[in-house]
Amino acid sequence: MSRKTFYIETLGCQMNKADSEKISGILENLGYEETLSPQESSLLIMNTCSIRAMSENKAYSYLGVWKKLKQKNPGLKIAMCGCVAQQTEEKIFTRAPHVDLIFGTQNICELPFLLERLQSEEKVCSILKTPVNPDNGSIPNRKEGISAWLPVIEGCDYFCTYCIVPYTRGRQRSRMPEDIIKEAEQIASEGFKEIILLGQTVDSYGNDIDNPDINLANLLKELNKTDKILRIRFVTSHPADITDELIYSVRDLDKVCEYFHIPMQSGSTEVLKRMRRPYSRENYLDLIRKIQKEMPDVGLTSDFIAGFPGETEAQFEETLSILDEVTFDHCNTAAYSPRKQTPAAVWKDQVSYDEKKRRLNVLNKKVREVVKKSQQKYAGRTLEVLAEGFREKDRQIILTGRTRNNKIVHFPGDKNQVATLVDVNIKDISTWSLIGEKV
Ligand code: SAH
Ligand code: SF4
Ligand code: F3S
Repeated sequence: MSRKTFYIETLGCQMNKADSEKISGILENLGYEETLSPQESSLLIMNTCSIRAMSENKAYSYLGVWKKLKQKNPGLKIAMCGCVAQQTEEKIFTRAPHVDLIFGTQNICELPFLLERLQSEEKVCSILKTPVNPDNGSIPNRKEGISAWLPVIEGCDYFCTYCIVPYTRGRQRSRMPEDIIKEAEQIASEGFKEIILLGQTVDSYGNDIDNPDINLANLLKELNKTDKILRIRFVTSHPADITDELIYSVRDLDKVCEYFHIPMQSGSTEVLKRMRRPYSRENYLDLIRKIQKEMPDVGLTSDFIAGFPGETEAQFEETLSILDEVTFDHCNTAAYSPRKQTPAAVWKDQVSYDEKKRRLNVLNKKVREVVKKSQQKYAGRTLEVLAEGFREKDRQIILTGRTRNNKIVHFPGDKNQVATLVDVNIKDISTWSLIGEKV
C-alpha cells in the first residue's frame, strides 16, 4: 500500500491554527504522515478563514494551484474545512469542482469517518450547526516550539453587525476546567514553556456554564499551578467582559503575563453603537486606565476597522485620536469588508473602496508612530525575556524572545538559553522590536 501523507495549509486566526493541530493529530492516529510540501502529499487540506473577503479569496487562489497538482496526480484528495467551509457548505463544489471533501468547524473529530466515506463516495460534504464531541480525547499534534495554544472557549454570542464569526463558529461554548487543566499538564509534559489560552472572546469564559466559579480569573489561578510552565497568556479579550477580578489575577499571578489584546474597533461611540459593540469610547478608556493603574507596564494591543458603513470623516478622526490617548503596543487594522449574512453588509451607506483604503493608510501611519512611541519607555530598562529562538549573524548567536508584556526583543546570547527566562537590558529600539544585552 502506498504511503498516506497529508499537507495542511492554515489561513486565519490562532483558533484555526489550533484546529489544524487537532486535524494533524487525528490524521497521524490514522497512520498518515505530515509533509511540508503539497507535491509530496496524497491528501491536501485547506483550513480557511472568512473574516474578510481577502482571506476568503486567498483560499480559492491556493485551490487554483492545487487543482494543477490534481491534474498531474488524479489520486490526490483535496479537503476544505474552516470558516469558509462552514459558511459556504456544498456550494464550494460548484466553484471548485476538484475539491473532494468539505467539513466544518464543528465536526473535526468526524474526520476519520468522512475519509472512510470518501473511499466509496465521489464527494463528501458534512457541516454541522452544533458541535459533536469536542472533548473526545484526541491529542493535538502541536508544532515544536516554546508556546502552545490551548482553546478554552469557542464561538461567540455577540453578533457584532460586521462579523462573520458567530455564523462560522457557532454560539459560545466553554470547555470544562478539568479538561483544560489536564491538557495544560499534557502541554507541560511535552516541553512547552508558555501556554496561550484561546477564545474569540476568551474573557467570556464560563459565562455559558451555570456555575459562577467557572470564569477566566479562576481558571488562570488553577493554571498558574502547572509545573514547568513559565508563562501564561490569553487572547482575545472583549472589552465588556474584563472583570476587576480578572485584572487582579493578571496582576497577581506570577506566570500570567501582564498583557491584554482588547479590540476597540472604533473610537466613535456612535459607530460602536452601529457595530453593536456594548461600550462607549469613554467606557473603553476607563477600562484601559483601570488596567494601567494596576499594572503600569501592561502590554496593550487592539484592533480597529476603518470605513465602517456610515462612518463620517469626523468619526474616523475619533479613532485616530484614541491613538493619542492610549499608547498601544500594537494595533491590527483593516478596511471594513462586507460579509454575507451579516447585517452591515446590506446597509446603504457603505463607504467607497477608495475612501476606506485612504482611511486605512492614514490609520496605519498613526499606528506605526504610536508603536514606536510605546517602545521608548523601555530604553535603558532591564526586562525579563522568554527566549523563543535564535539566528546566526556575523558568527554571533542572536536570540529572539518576548517580554512579559509581549514586546519582541533581540539580544546576543547562547543557543542553550532558548526556552529559558533571561534578564535583558534594553540598549536600542526600532519600530517593531527592542534590542538589548543580557545582564
Ligand atoms: N472577538 C474579537 C475579534 C475577532 S475577529 C473581538 O470582538 O474583538 C478579529 C478582527 O477582525 C476584529 O477585531 C475586527 O477588527 C476584524 N474584522 C472582523 N470582521 C471584519 C470585517 N467584516 N471587516 C473588516 N475587519 C473585520
Ligand atoms: Fe466577531 Fe468578536 Fe464581535 Fe464576536 S465579539 S461577533 S468574534 S467581533
Ligand atoms: Fe477567520 Fe474563522 Fe478565525 S473567520 S479569524 S478563521 S474564527
